[in-house]
Amino acid sequence: MNIEKLLNLLNTSGININDESNNINRFGVYPKTQKECEIKYKNTTLLPLDIVLEKHHYYYGNPWIKGLLTMEILNYYGIQKSNKLLEFGCGALRNGIHIIRYLNNNSYFGSDCDIDSLKAAILYELPMNDLIHKNPIIKLDNNFNINFVTNKVDYVLSTAVLHNDMDKKILENAIINAYSILNDTGYFIVTNFDITYIIKNTNFYLYDKKYYSTI
Ligand SMILES: C[S@@+](CC[C@H](N)C(=O)[O-])C[C@H]1O[C@@H](n2cnc3c(N)ncnc32)[C@H](O)[C@@H]1O
Repeated sequence: MNIEKLLNLLNTSGININDESNNINRFGVYPKTQKECEIKYKNTTLLPLDIVLEKHHYYYGNPWIKGLLTMEILNYYGIQKSNKLLEFGCGALRNGIHIIRYLNNNSYFGSDCDIDSLKAAILYELPMNDLIHKNPIIKLDNNFNINFVTNKVDYVLSTAVLHNDMDKKILENAIINAYSILNDTGYFIVTNFDITYIIKNTNFYLYDKKYYSTI
């Protein structure tokens, strides 16, 4: 993100970010509670109301903008437009929308077991962000399978998905699959999970030599 340009835009906009006095010139601006929106929008949309109200932006315990930070981390790890990326537990594409926008067509693969998240991803986030034409592949799956991924990938990403208290078999499957789909110089980037736990407690010592990063 270009902070200098952002600050310049703010400074030239006439907004004083530190001015907390009442914003009185709100013609046509009528803030509503979520309940009021639920009543007002009911029967006005073909999409499920929860999706239109963007309830999926509050599914994961921290702000939706975190997806942009994930993109910055991928930039730090050298992501290129021509790369391929697999995301385990992609949810409603909080990370995915930034990654899909950045990568070339046919380069993003995501899986998740939560139907509501995937509905929001496919029915709302992708069209809303004008990203359908990038041909991401999204799969409903609860076992971190890779059979839907057509190429070796440069990154396997998994943010706030793998946990040390998860079923060991599922974790092992995720790690085996991540490393078998990664190309030789690829990165496995995960948050909230220390792979050394599973390396120490199983026969996964092979993998600690490969590229791995927690953030
Ligand atoms: C805290 S959310 C994070 C979503 C996304 N990674 C993000 O950062 O926006 C955890 C996600 O992991 C998914 N998940 C948990 N266990 C899973 C499993 N066994 N297989 C696939 N997805 C799983 C959940 O459905 C949920 O979407």
